[in-house]
Amino acid sequence: MKVVTLCLLVAAVAGGAEGVLAPPERQYKILLLLPMSFRSHRTIFMSLAEALAERGHKVVMLTNHPKSSSHPNIDEVTHGLEYINDENINMFNDRKQGYKIMRESIVRLARDLYDVPVVKELYLRRKDFDLIVVSSLFNEMAYPFVYEIPFIAFLAREVNRRETVVLGNVLNLAYVCSFGHLCTVPMSAWQRFLNVVSHIHEFYYGQILVLLPKLQKEISAHFPDLPPLLDLERNMSMMFVNTHFSVGMPVPLLPSQVEVGAIHCRPANPLSQELESWITGAGSPGVIYFSLGSFTKFTNIPVQYRDVFVQAFRRLPQRVIWKYDGDLEDVPDNVMIRKWLPQQDILGEIIQFYVMTGGN
Ligand SMILES: *[C@@H]1O[C@H](CO)[C@@H](O)[C@H](O)[C@H]1NC(C)=O
Repeated sequence: MKVVTLCLLVAAVAGGAEGVLAPPERQYKILLLLPMSFRSHRTIFMSLAEALAERGHKVVMLTNHPKSSSHPNIDEVTHGLEYINDENINMFNDRKQGYKIMRESIVRLARDLYDVPVVKELYLRRKDFDLIVVSSLFNEMAYPFVYEIPFIAFLAREVNRRETVVLGNVLNLAYVCSFGHLCTVPMSAWQRFLNVVSHIHEFYYGQILVLLPKLQKEISAHFPDLPPLLDLERNMSMMFVNTHFSVGMPVPLLPSQVEVGAIHCRPANPLSQELESWITGAGSPGVIYFSLGSFTKFTNIPVQYRDVFVQAFRRLPQRVIWKYDGDLEDVPDNVMIRKWLPQQDILGEIIQFYVMTGGN
């Protein structure tokens, strides 16, 4: 939701304003590592890859997704270990179970990744790269790549305390929300208490005590002489964070922690005739765009919860465009469902039609 607001803001305020950079001094080779990434995280990395490629640098991306860019300067390496892909992890079974499955898949990935021939080959030529950018959190199995090479950590989400401590920025849990825990700004005393408990539980129990030792064991089996993963992580030169202070929670950051939120936003492209007329035909009640992102699968949600959405949408005077990853019987007349939607173009169209023209 925050990202959506941010895109709206960028589209509305920034328009097409772009700074002009001096040409790069030379062509660099940059390796982007996101062996465990959701589709939306890949989209964010792709905007970085494309901007670098556009400026003449050579980019190689290691991901768990099929190739999606045709840029000649971008080479996508897919490791093909399918169990890590979002469609194979159901976070709706039970939240705790979902995280457990995710952790287990990550440990499996640490075990299998370096046995994949294309990954092995990439690992052996890693010293050819001038810079590595690693997707942060749950990609610790990629740290053997960064040994003795300058690297940047890219947080596809908001900052969290464990990772920012690495750069010496110890966030105060009294006013910075821990990952996976919803807070309002400012937090109530009760939320602060829960924030501390959930932080201790998630990071010290979930990660430091459970996940990291397992990852370390798998990685040490492949690379017995390598420093520990957390020591490799500590050598990061910089951190990119996918948030922006204008719409996010206020967080004190160091000069080496750069907010790059909305990096993936671009001017809207024209919509298909069908979407265009659905939006403009909604009249004065307007249109609601509804998506839970790429990781949350509606097909995984228990039917009774899904039906609550259907019934609520049915009662609305607005038209609803719903990113829904399956087939649904009995779709209300005011609801359009699609498996994947051009979100930025839709938001652009909605702004154009309702904000700029007053929607008539
Ligand atoms: C730490 O990073 C620097 C450059 O950023 C690099 O020269 C050095 O080899 C790295 N050390 C380790 C242990 O990776």
